[in-house]
Amino acid sequence: MPTYTLKINGEDRSVDVSSDTPLLWALRDHIGLVGTKYGCGIGQCGACNVHVDGNAIQSCLVPVAQMEGKEITTIEGLSEDGTHPVQEAWKEVDVPQCGYCQAGQIMTASSFLDKNPNPTEDEIKSAMHGNICRCAAYNRIQKAVALAAE
Ligand code: FES
Repeated sequence: MPTYTLKINGEDRSVDVSSDTPLLWALRDHIGLVGTKYGCGIGQCGACNVHVDGNAIQSCLVPVAQMEGKEITTIEGLSEDGTHPVQEAWKEVDVPQCGYCQAGQIMTASSFLDKNPNPTEDEIKSAMHGNICRCAAYNRIQKAVALAAE
């Protein structure tokens, strides 16, 4: 099995996995960063979103072999103590119901706001449309992203 060195949350981490192992499974099963969730495994739900070089991507779709040399950030590395503005807004608006999708939602929102700090409602909707919430907390998600942008 080849060894890959991945830069995750600012640290080099080595994983011995086959080249087509999705990043999601390297994170969860080999590195123990289980904040990133498995939802569908086919790029349809966004539960597995992490940042790669600042962009939110679906970690269930990208093979580890393509991740060397990239800066990967998971929900565990988004802030030191859970106080990223999106996380603060999430708490203030009381977004989670079951909470399963929230890591992926927050990673999408934070990457989006880095690029567009003053979004319109429609821009937020469009940015978040790939993240499914099975509790349908979409109004609160929308509010929290708008609040984080203030
Ligand atoms: Fe990756 Fe659903 S688990 S998009």
